[in-house]
Amino acid sequence: MNKKIKEELKKILTRSKVSFDEPMYKHTSLRIGGPADAFVLVEGIDELKKILTLARRKDIPLFTIGGGTNLLVNDRGIKGIVLKLGKSFDRIKFRGNKVLAGPSVPVAKLLKETVRHNLSGLECMAGIPGTLGGAIIANAGSPERAIGDFISSVKLMTPYGRIMTRRRNALQFSYRYSSFKNERGVIVGVVLNSLMKRSRAIIEKQIAFIIEKRRKNQPAGFPSAGCIFKNPPISSAGVLIDFAGLKGLKIGGAQISKKHANFILNVNSAKSSDVSKLIEKVERKIYDLFRIELELEVENVG
Ligand code: EPU
Repeated sequence: MNKKIKEELKKILTRSKVSFDEPMYKHTSLRIGGPADAFVLVEGIDELKKILTLARRKDIPLFTIGGGTNLLVNDRGIKGIVLKLGKSFDRIKFRGNKVLAGPSVPVAKLLKETVRHNLSGLECMAGIPGTLGGAIIANAGSPERAIGDFISSVKLMTPYGRIMTRRRNALQFSYRYSSFKNERGVIVGVVLNSLMKRSRAIIEKQIAFIIEKRRKNQPAGFPSAGCIFKNPPISSAGVLIDFAGLKGLKIGGAQISKKHANFILNVNSAKSSDVSKLIEKVERKIYDLFRIELELEVENVG
């Protein structure tokens, strides 16, 4: 990124924080990732508009991250500007059974607040890290229900800096997919509905059950990006990788979890290539054994 663009970026931003050659490992749950040319913690809709306008005018690639919990960022880094929406996008309001929330709201906070208002539905999000914006793009959830089931509308800022509201019927959600994956705008606001009033004690019991199940099944302690592969239609990726005998396999600093075979852990300063090599090894073995092509759930960036 040339000096002139860096200067311009600094000039147009007053509330947002910009840094250059920002190491992305600091912003990903896997703790892997090289430098982003520019990294902006965006505050305020007006400043977001200024950045999008500059990027479009100068043809600079843009990538927006949420909590960085489902990303595999290359050690080479990311060209262009990486955006992360800041505190000013982390707001929640309740209107009866509807929730108005900003994209930076952590999923855990959203769940806690809905429970505090005796609203049931988002229990399926218990234990899921990251932000609401990221969860919507990946349609995060459990196998039974996902965040997309609760979306009434989404406000998006287009690359031209216009705000557009996408109503439910204009959106598509399926297993770990949302139509936002093909959009170039940035989510700036969300309305959730389909939540139901229920006794708080019952909701909390359900959440405790889900968290306990995760604690038993899923690894903790080392950095990871959650499940690496989507479950294929006929089975669970974890079961297949386990059956293939790949649990515990290590390349460099990356290791397939001994507890849940669909998790890759960064056990010792792993490089992005260590994880990629493990992914390729798993893909090849699962294809050879079962003739199933696993699809990545995590997103490769850079
Ligand atoms: N299992 C094995 N070996 C393993 C892993 C799992 O035998 O190495 C067995 C478990 O014992 C269980 C079954 O496989 O009987 C299913 O396992 P689990 O309940 O962990 O479900 P999953 O299909 O592996 C999915 C989601 C998870 C989500 C859990 C719980 C996908 C790819 N994964 O995992 O999501 O947390 O259900 O709701 O859809 C993620 O998205 O990052 C993620 C971890």
